Amino acid sequence: MFEYDVCIIGTGRVGLPLGLSLVDAGVKATGVDIDSNMRESVNDGRMPFHEPGYDEIIARKEFIVHASPADVVPSSSHLVITVGTPLHNHIETDLSQIQRVLASLGSYLRKGQTVILRSTVAPGTTTYVKKWIERNTELKVGEDILLTFCPERIAEGLAHTELRSLPQIVGGEDEKSIDSASELFGKLAPEILRTDFITAELVKLFNNISRYINFAVANQFALIADDFGANIYETRRLANHDYPRCNLAMPGFTAGTCLRKDFGMINEWSAYPDMLLSAWKMNEFTPAMLVDQLMKRATIHDHRVAVLGFSFKADTDDIRDSLVPKLCRYIERQLPMEVRISDHNLPDPIHEPSASTPLRNWPVNDALVDVDCVFVATNHTGYHEVLLELGRNRPEAWVADIWNVGGIDQIFYQAGDLVNAEVSS
Ligand SMILES: NC(=O)c1ccc[n+]([C@@H]2O[C@H](COP(=O)([O-])OP(=O)(O)OC[C@H]3O[C@@H](n4cnc5c(N)ncnc54)[C@H](O)[C@@H]3O)[C@@H](O)[C@H]2O)c1
Repeated sequence: MFEYDVCIIGTGRVGLPLGLSLVDAGVKATGVDIDSNMRESVNDGRMPFHEPGYDEIIARKEFIVHASPADVVPSSSHLVITVGTPLHNHIETDLSQIQRVLASLGSYLRKGQTVILRSTVAPGTTTYVKKWIERNTELKVGEDILLTFCPERIAEGLAHTELRSLPQIVGGEDEKSIDSASELFGKLAPEILRTDFITAELVKLFNNISRYINFAVANQFALIADDFGANIYETRRLANHDYPRCNLAMPGFTAGTCLRKDFGMINEWSAYPDMLLSAWKMNEFTPAMLVDQLMKRATIHDHRVAVLGFSFKADTDDIRDSLVPKLCRYIERQLPMEVRISDHNLPDPIHEPSASTPLRNWPVNDALVDVDCVFVATNHTGYHEVLLELGRNRPEAWVADIWNVGGIDQIFYQAGDLVNAEVSS
């Protein structure tokens, strides 16, 4: 009856790996995306971003992305919506991408199709989609057309393995909808967990928010340890060692498109300060804390500063919602002689949406020449060796290393301390 088993609407960091994994599992999948660069890259057989495991699958050119829903939506059995769901500047969910998708799909929806919402959404959004379909088409959800919420819970960089190893939550309000979505995801997921819309929406948000809070606690504990003159890395290691009821996270920059915004999706409906708001404040404070604390040891004003890493987490090329631009702005406020940004996972220049001009991306060795202060902003693989080299060439340079990439259990140290530690170990 339908030419395609599935059409992915929005083939970004979530939609594209899903489409490719489905193709690899023998599913006839296609996609729609409004971004012409994205379509050009995918249809040419090249990954448009870094996500391991997909280079060979995409090169087969079996997954084609179209510009217009008219080309493929009417002929697809399942429609998976994976567009972005950011926050507005205020604590308010931005539903506009979902609304635009619905408007673009409306006249192409057909009897017998299954719509699957997979973007991370605020509680109640799948019900909104249901009402939208029933108001704007002749189709009745659960009878003519099926609808589920099936959250994506992969971590960027791990999509290829996690799409096949994580249980898939399938939220629906009727058995036919849940059966239909379960059949699709059963091609990948080892286990299907059936539930209703709201529970599925909350599972996804609770998964992310609890992680966000864990990192906020880790950042708060780092401050407390520092207040008492203790070492957070040693304290954490001892607290976790062979102790079954504690799993303290590492301190670090905590942001990115998922973790930071997802708490806002719940918080927009609550008027009072709560734990989620405190976690947000704690994580947002980390860049200011690093600049402030480094300045107690070294001078930034009129000196050369290097920032290693710009993406929101290790070994990715995703800079969306990264805290590093904020760190750079705080450094700039001290009027340094120069701030050199270096991230080997990103192109040169770096196009950061809030910056008025593209940012120069320095090769790491050039960035560290004659540098006075270094902030390790992202814990990319390879930075340990880079810091050791700095220690040999410029031992007096001060380092702010919240990720403990140097491995000497200190957030602030002089680069030469790394070389001394290696010699004495
Ligand atoms: N990135 C992650 O690791 C991750 C993990 C789990 C869940 N999520 C959630 O998945 C959703 C998508 O995130 P992402 O990181 O893939 O975003 P993304 O920006 O990488 O991808 C979204 C894609 O949708 C396209 N798009 C936007 N409007 C469209 C429209 N009207 N028609 C067709 N295409 C359209 C964009 O061009 C883009 O390519 C978000 O809700 C996010 O919170 C993301």
